[in-house]
Amino acid sequence: MKILVTGGLGFIGSHTVVELQQKGFEVVIIDNLSNAGIEVLEGITAITGKVPEFVKMDLRDKQKVNQFFRDHSDIEGVIHFAASKAVGESVENPLLYYENNISTLVYILQELSKKDRARFIFSSSCTVYGQADELPITEGAPVKPAESPYGNTKQVGEEIIRDTCNINKNLEAIALRYFNPIGAHPSAHIGELPIGVPQNLVPFITQTGIGLREQLAVFGDDYPTEDGTCIRDYIHVVDLAKAHVVALERLLNKKNKENYEVFNLGTGRGSSVLEVIGSFERVSGEKLNYRIAERRPGDVIAAYADTTKANNELGWKAQSSLDDAMTSAWKWEQKIRK
Ligand code: WQD
Repeated sequence: MKILVTGGLGFIGSHTVVELQQKGFEVVIIDNLSNAGIEVLEGITAITGKVPEFVKMDLRDKQKVNQFFRDHSDIEGVIHFAASKAVGESVENPLLYYENNISTLVYILQELSKKDRARFIFSSSCTVYGQADELPITEGAPVKPAESPYGNTKQVGEEIIRDTCNINKNLEAIALRYFNPIGAHPSAHIGELPIGVPQNLVPFITQTGIGLREQLAVFGDDYPTEDGTCIRDYIHVVDLAKAHVVALERLLNKKNKENYEVFNLGTGRGSSVLEVIGSFERVSGEKLNYRIAERRPGDVIAAYADTTKANNELGWKAQSSLDDAMTSAWKWEQKIRK
């Protein structure tokens, strides 16, 4: 069965391609290489022994998207990762984010709407909740006004899919709201490859550990939490990738209850920044060089998932601990810096 993975050379996309291939799916990747290198294809193949079909394409080209779906009429499902995802950049350049994240989604949904049946998995984010009023966060928690154009593209993206599924019963979709994906494939053939200075905590930690960065700045230790630093739900990227295959199979096997569903993907556990640093020091045996700095604007105090729905409905549960994920992240950092 042929599945299209857009953004399939990216961090979560590449790990999902591996899981799809290992479950016997035939995978076609579309990626414009704006945030990933072609060498990721070798990493995927090194793990699975299968070379996914790869099409270098920018999904903003509506004609090319149309041509692609005409040439690949046997695609049974789409997992859509391709999007820009840097929160800060989205504030600086909102139109880039609305063009890239919204128009490409519309073009793909237009093509899927022509098919007798189509299944669509959407890469969404816990960022839609903003600072939730109650923790842990359930899928019923209210979507809050987005703090960034990036977050807004995820909210609007979900609404576009919901409205399309409302009117087109041939289209069945699931939006997966990720908490904080971290780590790398245990083989260290693929992992996170942030371009430039990492915005996210764990790659900044491992780059500091390896000596690429001088010192980690902890963005504030005066929050109303136990140790004063922000709390997040850090989920191993392989657990996250597996959830995408489970969600796709839910649709393929017609187990879905509605033709548009939403699931939180997290571990259900919150970890503070200092606890993540502690995890790095435990698994690496190294002291991390860090300082306490000013708060980062836009950070929520705490966010971690209520995983009941994904556990019960999807039959999926994150298996890896924070230390497991940090071990894989550190192994990956050491490998790529060799
Ligand atoms: C985690 C914690 C920081 C860096 C973002 C996006 C979200 C999703 C995941 C795409 C926070 C602290 C960080 C540093 C620090 N991305 N931190 N020093 O902000 O929870 O989520 O990535 O979907 O949409 O918003 O993740 O890793 O940036 O920050 O102290 O150098 O680590 O303040 O408390 P975040 P993050």
